[in-house]
Amino acid sequence: PRKIIIDTDPGQDDAVAILLALASPEDVTVLGITAVAGNVPLPLTERNARIICELAGKPQTPVYAGCDAPLKRKLVTAEHVHGKTGLDGPVLAEPTMALQPTHAVDFIIDTLRREPAHSVTICPLGPLTNIATAFLRAPDIIARVQQIVLMGGAYFEVGNITPAAEFNIYVDPEAADIVFKSGVPLVVMPLDVTHKALTNRARIEAFRNVGTEPCRMVAEWTDFFERFDMQKYGSEGAPLHDPCVIAYLIRPDLFTGRHINVEIETQSELTLGMTVADWWGVTDRPANALFIGDLDAEGFYTLLTERIARL
Ligand code: BDR
Ligand code: CA
Repeated sequence: PRKIIIDTDPGQDDAVAILLALASPEDVTVLGITAVAGNVPLPLTERNARIICELAGKPQTPVYAGCDAPLKRKLVTAEHVHGKTGLDGPVLAEPTMALQPTHAVDFIIDTLRREPAHSVTICPLGPLTNIATAFLRAPDIIARVQQIVLMGGAYFEVGNITPAAEFNIYVDPEAADIVFKSGVPLVVMPLDVTHKALTNRARIEAFRNVGTEPCRMVAEWTDFFERFDMQKYGSEGAPLHDPCVIAYLIRPDLFTGRHINVEIETQSELTLGMTVADWWGVTDRPANALFIGDLDAEGFYTLLTERIARL
């Protein structure tokens, strides 16, 4: 199994991603979960991460709290999508497992220095503040990262928080810029692919029909998401963005994309946080990312349901 660190701002779709990872020990070993401010402020994202580990029956999973604000900007949150707690939908008990005393950034640095080079993959599901802070503080770890597989950005699909930008990149564009320029091999799950990973009635019922507590929660979270999205986008279902990252580690064959150059806009007010993706190769800038554009949605939902049903 591949060793991973999940960096996250749960978020219902982050929660499903974490459940998928914790349900898949033959494919991934979760070394730790690092929380970052994003969808909701840090005290809620670290709390939510612990709730999810307990829900998965894996309270021994270490959870660390990281940065509570972007590198240079004021935090922008997304309660309008995820609700006040970040995990609105079902009623959830307060977690009892403890938060680790170490700061998430120290955990990331220590882990990459301790583990063999190129043996740890980082999976960012929120703004890139923790990862960029670790890279700034300990540049020696950059060359040791095996891969970064992240959810963020948009190209043909344009933005979801502004017309030009996707939420995770928009919240901390300076951090994203550092990560995209780091030289670490990147796999990017932009809205172009996550907007094809849509729930629908049958997919939500498949979760509910499993009958376990984690699957019931997934059904309630996606119900909550769906209501929101129906009003706003009129689409049949809601996108499960972040689970695409973990699904890619387990079944890369479900996804297709292109190796291209992607740069981050950090200056313009109008297009701040835009992922400028050279899809057609019109520049001679070298490729720095595998930018995913499509997935087998049926295969993706089958994988999610089968795996999370194990918990
Ligand atoms: C991303 O933003 C968050 O609201 C979701 O959890 C996902 O990571 C989608 O733009
Ligand atoms: Ca997220």
